[in-house]
Amino acid sequence: MDLSGKTIIVTGATGGIGKALVKKLAADKPHLILIARSASKLKALTKTLQGVTLKGDTYVSDLTDSAARRRLAKTLVRKYPTVDILINTAGIGVYKPIGAVTEKDWNTSFALNVATPYFLTQALIPSLKNSSLSLVLNLGSGAGVIPMRGRSVYCSTKFALRGATLSLAEEYNDQKPHFCLITLGSTLTSFGPMTLAEKQRDCDSGKAYFTPEWVAKKLVEIIKDDHRETEYTLYPGDYGFGEWKKP
Ligand SMILES: NC(=O)c1ccc[n+]([C@@H]2O[C@H](COP(=O)([O-])OP(=O)(O)OC[C@H]3O[C@@H](n4cnc5c(N)ncnc54)[C@H](OP(=O)(O)O)[C@@H]3O)[C@@H](O)[C@H]2O)c1
Repeated sequence: MDLSGKTIIVTGATGGIGKALVKKLAADKPHLILIARSASKLKALTKTLQGVTLKGDTYVSDLTDSAARRRLAKTLVRKYPTVDILINTAGIGVYKPIGAVTEKDWNTSFALNVATPYFLTQALIPSLKNSSLSLVLNLGSGAGVIPMRGRSVYCSTKFALRGATLSLAEEYNDQKPHFCLITLGSTLTSFGPMTLAEKQRDCDSGKAYFTPEWVAKKLVEIIKDDHRETEYTLYPGDYGFGEWKKP
């Protein structure tokens, strides 16, 4: 499937996975619409894409703020009557035992990890319907399938995202857009409370991690697959499901 000239929206475009994905997608010269919270990181990312993509637009938005998210959605709907792919990668990982969790932790986690992909999808469905490709790709997690100690907030959001994505896949079974959930395992980025350097040290001493570049390559393969499934489990660990594939 040719992605050249296709309109692709990516939230969390400046993150470890988002950035690797955007760089991989850019090789096909789509019209990339990149969303993140930090203007400076977005600027740095677009610099690396100069001369690679045909067209690109960036939007800075704190998507934990529902009013900001609604404003962004309105702008996207007005500016892009056809959207081929919406990729929701923006996410936060609050890893705390229940005693340390604040209402703010809960609310911001649900706002970014669940409400943002859900309501951006809702707003963009008419634009997605105008596309022959028409795909919503959501970045889920093993934490959306496996209960984990000390991660009840994060797990709750990813279980919810999984429920929403798979339910929408049922709801849109015979119509556009196609919904796809990536149930992803540990990847070497600075996501969550551990630093990238700490994860790299763990990786060097044998813990299984994907590299963001490997994940990006896999995601582009999935996006381009004409017989794409609704859920893919990409898991580098030893939790008893999924398939370990060396990055
Ligand atoms: N890394 C893993 O091990 C792993 C495993 C399974 C699933 N995932 C999922 O994969 C997705 C991407 O993870 P990652 O590893 O790439 O994370 P990351 O490196 O921490 O990147 C997170 C992205 O989300 C954006 N973001 C954070 N808070 C935001 C806010 N309030 N408003 C708007 N954007 C915001 C960040 O933008 P700024 O840079 O501008 O702040 C950044 O682009 C997440 O949904 C995560 O749950 C990750």
